[in-house]
Amino acid sequence: MTNFNTLAADRYTTKKYDPTKKLSDALVNELKDILHLSPSSINSQPWRFTFISDPELKNELSACSFHNDEKVRDASHIVVFSVIDNIELFEKQISDNLPEGAIAYYNKNIKPGTEAEIKAWMAHQVYLALGFFLSACAAKQVDSTPMEGIDTAAYDRILNMKDYKTLFAVALGYRHADDSNQPSVKGKSRIDRDKIIFSR
Ligand SMILES: Cc1cc2nc3c(=O)[nH]c(=O)nc-3n(C[C@H](O)[C@H](O)[C@H](O)COP(=O)(O)O)c2cc1C
Repeated sequence: MTNFNTLAADRYTTKKYDPTKKLSDALVNELKDILHLSPSSINSQPWRFTFISDPELKNELSACSFHNDEKVRDASHIVVFSVIDNIELFEKQISDNLPEGAIAYYNKNIKPGTEAEIKAWMAHQVYLALGFFLSACAAKQVDSTPMEGIDTAAYDRILNMKDYKTLFAVALGYRHADDSNQPSVKGKSRIDRDKIIFSR
């Protein structure tokens, strides 16, 4: 298995996909298994992940994806990350699935918050799944693009989301040979390590 530091240095946000290259069904299934195992606070899992490979549906979403339109069109798959938008439904889900201690934690620490605070807490869990997923893609040598730059309300309409809301999407596939964002062409850009990472 490749060293994680190498994976971190080599993964990048793909800006141009080769439309002729598709992920195998077996690989997609492995990525689904990994997302299913994403960690979340109290194991709350307030999410839904929708894998899209149908070209017509991808084209429809592409038209609502602003500057990401070509990525959505040309990538092999799009994964839409959604969060539960119905707190009552979420509370039923945790009471059906989680141990008493986890429910008690939610009731004491999260539930007293405002609706906006509870929903922000749930969205944090979905973003955590994004980080987990991007690392998994790197480990599987799948190129990826996290995309907040999409019309999430249009995605909800097209995908007929009920009780869930799109937060962002991830394009998956294989880079076009001409992708100018790949690390071999454009080096990684980060704020200096010693300005953001401290030991005490
Ligand atoms: C939550 C999130 C949303 C992002 N949205 C977009 C996007 O809409 N389009 C895009 O091309 N890149 C998007 N990016 C990619 C970032 O710009 C990229 O991760 C950052 O510049 C670091 O570059 P690297 O991923 O190539 O290392 C997003 C990244 C994250 C984590």
